[in-house]
Amino acid sequence: MVILDVTAGNRKIWSSKKDIPGVIFIDKESGLLINQDIMADNTHLPIRIDLKIDSIIFDPPWMVNPPPWFNNKKHRTGSGGITYYGSYNSKKEIVPYINSAFIEFKKYTNRVCMKWGDSDIPLYRMLGFIKRSGWILIKQIELKSKRNRGGNSKTANWWVVLERDSGVWGVV
Ligand SMILES: C[S@@+](CC[C@H](N)C(=O)[O-])C[C@H]1O[C@@H](n2cnc3c(N)ncnc32)[C@H](O)[C@@H]1O
Repeated sequence: MVILDVTAGNRKIWSSKKDIPGVIFIDKESGLLINQDIMADNTHLPIRIDLKIDSIIFDPPWMVNPPPWFNNKKHRTGSGGITYYGSYNSKKEIVPYINSAFIEFKKYTNRVCMKWGDSDIPLYRMLGFIKRSGWILIKQIELKSKRNRGGNSKTANWWVVLERDSGVWGVV
């Protein structure tokens, strides 16, 4: 089974074991705590499309115009590590980016697991855009723990599972 994590960052979403057999880590940033397997833009994946990819893990930046320390992708954490969040300057940038990514993912897999935070664009709105790209919502789970909500943040955080909508005429 092969899984693509196309927003690898520092692999914080994975267990303490960071080298997971079958997972290919991709990110466009350099200088990550653990080097990605492939440095690439996930809207143009440099991967053969005949590979059987079970699913794609997608944890994109969801903050629009965050405070300067957050915008600085090389924010130092208390433990001396470096956290990469990534961000976009406006909704006009983030929505087309997410759409392009989902169009690209259709070449590779039938299933995407996406993490999303509601702070600037609520999940239901983002799902509207994603559905138009030919994906349907299979599962939606809210992350309740303080750690997953970013400490005391009130922002709802979600994991959603989407599958390719094979019933949509003309969606390739
Ligand atoms: C919210 S962070 C992901 C955190 C990661 N899942 C973790 O557990 O540490 C978003 C990541 O997406 C990456 N990213 C943003 N746009 C990208 C793109 N077009 N192609 C590839 N990676 C991208 C950023 O560099 C950043 O590392």
